[in-house]
Amino acid sequence: MPPLEIARLALLVIHFVGLAAVIGPFLLQVRRTQPLRLRAMLTGAVVQVLTGNALIAANRLQGMEVDELKMIVKLSVAVALLVALIVAAVIRRRRGDRATAVRPLFRLAGGLALADVVVAVVWT
Ligand code: HEM
Repeated sequence: MPPLEIARLALLVIHFVGLAAVIGPFLLQVRRTQPLRLRAMLTGAVVQVLTGNALIAANRLQGMEVDELKMIVKLSVAVALLVALIVAAVIRRRRGDRATAVRPLFRLAGGLALADVVVAVVWT
């Protein structure tokens, strides 16, 4: 197997781990009333943006087609989710666990992650 193809598959595996790191903690905490833990989701969102762009490169370098519009939509959704999580983390650091804006931003981030899964799967 060519090294670039091995790299693409390795990146795809990490891309799925990043997906789990965002959606796993979201589903675990969405019904809880305790203070939210955002670190794993933040890490997962960064991983998705980095591995997503690296996957585009790995595909292009092998002459494989990449749907530009789909990638622009996926990247925009992923960046919006990352920004929502960063804002939630900053607000919580400044105002503490009781800050009311944190939970809506957390829900928005989870919803955007699920939206990116739908885009990835349905947009062929
Ligand atoms: C939370 C954010 C994201 C989620 C949940 C997600 C989810 C997925 C899923 C489920 C797949 C496998 C299905 C498929 O091949 O279409 C996939 C593949 C892929 N994603 Fe993402 N993704 C995210 C962000 C991104 C971003 C930001 C980019 C690019 C800027 C990206 C680029 C790609 C590419 C290029 C593939 C195809 C891999 C290949 O077959 O070589 N993804 N993503």
